[in-house]
Amino acid sequence: MKVLGIETSCDETAAAVVEADAAGAGGGRILASRVLSQLDEHRPFGGVVPEIAARAHLDHVDRLVAEAMAQAGLGFEALDGVAATAGPGLIGGVLVGAMTGKAIAAVHDKPFVAVNHLEGHALTVRLTDGLAFPYLLLLVSGGHCQLLAVEGVGRYRRYGGTLDDAVGEAFDKVAKLLGLGYPGGPAVERAAAEGDPARFALPRPMKGRPGCDFSFSGLKTAVRHAVEGLGETRDAAATRDLAAGFQAAVAEVLQDRAGRALARFAAEQGRAGPLVVAGGVAANQQLRTALAETAAAAGAALVAPPPRLCTDNAAMIAWAGLERLRLGAADPLDFRARPRWPLDELGVPGLVAAG
Ligand code: KG4
Ligand code: ZN
Repeated sequence: MKVLGIETSCDETAAAVVEADAAGAGGGRILASRVLSQLDEHRPFGGVVPEIAARAHLDHVDRLVAEAMAQAGLGFEALDGVAATAGPGLIGGVLVGAMTGKAIAAVHDKPFVAVNHLEGHALTVRLTDGLAFPYLLLLVSGGHCQLLAVEGVGRYRRYGGTLDDAVGEAFDKVAKLLGLGYPGGPAVERAAAEGDPARFALPRPMKGRPGCDFSFSGLKTAVRHAVEGLGETRDAAATRDLAAGFQAAVAEVLQDRAGRALARFAAEQGRAGPLVVAGGVAANQQLRTALAETAAAAGAALVAPPPRLCTDNAAMIAWAGLERLRLGAADPLDFRARPRWPLDELGVPGLVAAG
């Protein structure tokens, strides 16, 4: 099976073609993947501007689809389906991608799949590693921070989530406070690499509490107070030390929450993990190392997609579409794009996935 995927829910315009056996054994292959980041367009504003994003998607999506098809060496007639992100995300951009996908599907008489962006992140490890269900997922991105048991395609049970900021959002805000620029995550990681994480005493919100919820706004506020306290005296070294202190605090919180979730998962599923980390923040090397320790302590493996498949891309959308199509699911062309669309409200395809 070969599926075209389109992603336009935030600030990357992306198109990809993936392939897998109809039988569903093993992972898949990426035949083509094109990602155009709109960083330069949003940088002057220090964040994503929805209207600019929607216009940029409109300007580039057709070309990216054509490039992906050419790179895969395929005509549209060779596809088994067309998948596009239909939410959650910035609605103007989502509409551009979803309409493009529907139009291609209609013209070439192919099934259309309306993909939930978060399901794209959640299933990426099945594309890259052929991982079997069930697994524990820590989904950490710019808009989301949650722990879920993934039991099948469309079958997600939420263990906990953030009470305020998403972890990627915290990275972006801290980068802004420290004047490290946009996008924040990679900038904080680079600065932290040479900093002293112990110099500033920053809180570890929720650490040691029962349950699997997160909170990052207090940590962000603590960084702001430290920045204000230093004032003019903050030099490059202090900036690096604050970045390192912040990242170390995030790592400890994620370790604590993931450790609790691993215990709950083991009790419910009768097996240790595996723990999967996905979403843009999973590109962070220090966080991956910290989570690998936590997983190992619980006797579980840590599985993480390569960094370029952690941040937004269309291969994950094509893959989620393929998984749904091979279970017999497709969506009508009047499917409405959704700005908000929680993973645990997703439909389960006709057949129940088993491994
Ligand atoms: O999954 P993603 O590309 O888009 C969303 O669906 O939100 O995630 C983007 C988020 C941003 O907040 C970005 O700062 C963060 O992921 N991020 C990182 C790193 N790379 C991207 N955070 C920490 N360390 C990184 N290396
Ligand atoms: Zn994402």
